[in-house]
Amino acid sequence: MNYIGSKYSILDFIDETVIDFMHPEKNNYTFCDIFAGTAVVSKYFKKKGCSVIANDIESYSYMIIKSLIENNEEYQYKKLKENKIDDPFTYLNNLDGIEGFIYKNYSLGGTKGQETERLYFSDYNAKKIDAIRTEIKSWKEKELITENEFCYLVASLVESADKVANTASVYEAFLKKLKASAAKPLVYQPIDCPIIEKNGKYKAYNEDSNELIKHISGDVLYMDPPYNNRKYDTNYHILETIALYDEPEIKGKTGLRIENSKKSKYCVRKEATSAFEELVKNANFKYLFLSYNDEGIIPMAEIRRIMSKYGKYKCYSKKHKRYKSDTKREYIKDFTIEYIHCLEKNPKFLYEDHIEKNDSNIE
Ligand SMILES: C[S@@+](CC[C@H](N)C(=O)[O-])C[C@H]1O[C@@H](n2cnc3c(N)ncnc32)[C@H](O)[C@@H]1O
Repeated sequence: MNYIGSKYSILDFIDETVIDFMHPEKNNYTFCDIFAGTAVVSKYFKKKGCSVIANDIESYSYMIIKSLIENNEEYQYKKLKENKIDDPFTYLNNLDGIEGFIYKNYSLGGTKGQETERLYFSDYNAKKIDAIRTEIKSWKEKELITENEFCYLVASLVESADKVANTASVYEAFLKKLKASAAKPLVYQPIDCPIIEKNGKYKAYNEDSNELIKHISGDVLYMDPPYNNRKYDTNYHILETIALYDEPEIKGKTGLRIENSKKSKYCVRKEATSAFEELVKNANFKYLFLSYNDEGIIPMAEIRRIMSKYGKYKCYSKKHKRYKSDTKREYIKDFTIEYIHCLEKNPKFLYEDHIEKNDSNIE
């Protein structure tokens, strides 16, 4: 998925930094990706053999991390097979479209004559998304799929729908005319799920980072929070609705979800620094790594000041090509500098009495 702040293109830099800073690199360590997004970083460290804790506040992301990180076996769909559905992807791809919530609110046919006409999906694709999501919901209600299978089927739909969305890249606006990729029919495809022979421990969460941090522990905490006021809940609101399929009340030209309990302090200039300090203070991890670029709302000097308070601090940097959707803005540079701030926490700041003594509390 083309995601704001995706670390897909700097995975090597993250890995090299972790290895260099931890030197010598440990074996079998627990890696926590507390702002996991598309799960690319979690997947990378799972494939490396780490035990992984992954978390994100958004539901679409949680479904991705739960089905790709927490799960570590081929999906079996035992009950679906008993009901003569051998391959859910073929079955769901072959469904006829229906006029459900996505069609009625985010396609031209469904919004025709309304105060705001929206063209996020072609009529065909919007109906197809509704048909697939409705069937997955019904399988879940009839207990024909497990929780992980449910998340995997939904996460795969989120990614397949995103490929045919009629946007420049995020959902804060739609294009006036259907672009070529959005005019193509949706193909519902399974997403790549890493299955590791050496079975580590894997756990996914859907919580606010600053609450979760009080209840987990491990070796490496990787932090990749939002850098600025571009909120993920508004930029990806339709993916959230496909994930939850909760028929929310929506508003405005773009059909934003009205209910919004997921305000991130990391997107608010006045709150981001103190939220970050609280996260660092409460982290019961020996090594902390923060990815942040040079245009983030927390000043570099503040990051250095906060992290240095808790132990040995070092900063690594690399030039990084700018995220695609930002090219519309009037920036002079077409690159940013990506920094990884590292901290080896002084043991006196670890709270052993708060958390179980084994080196991580993953079940
Ligand atoms: C920069 S993105 C992470 C990108 C990810 N590393 C990747 O490569 O796909 C930041 C993520 O933090 C999540 N987020 C924002 N505030 C959060 C919070 N308070 N707690 C947990 N997750 C949060 C957003 O939903 C978003 O997915």
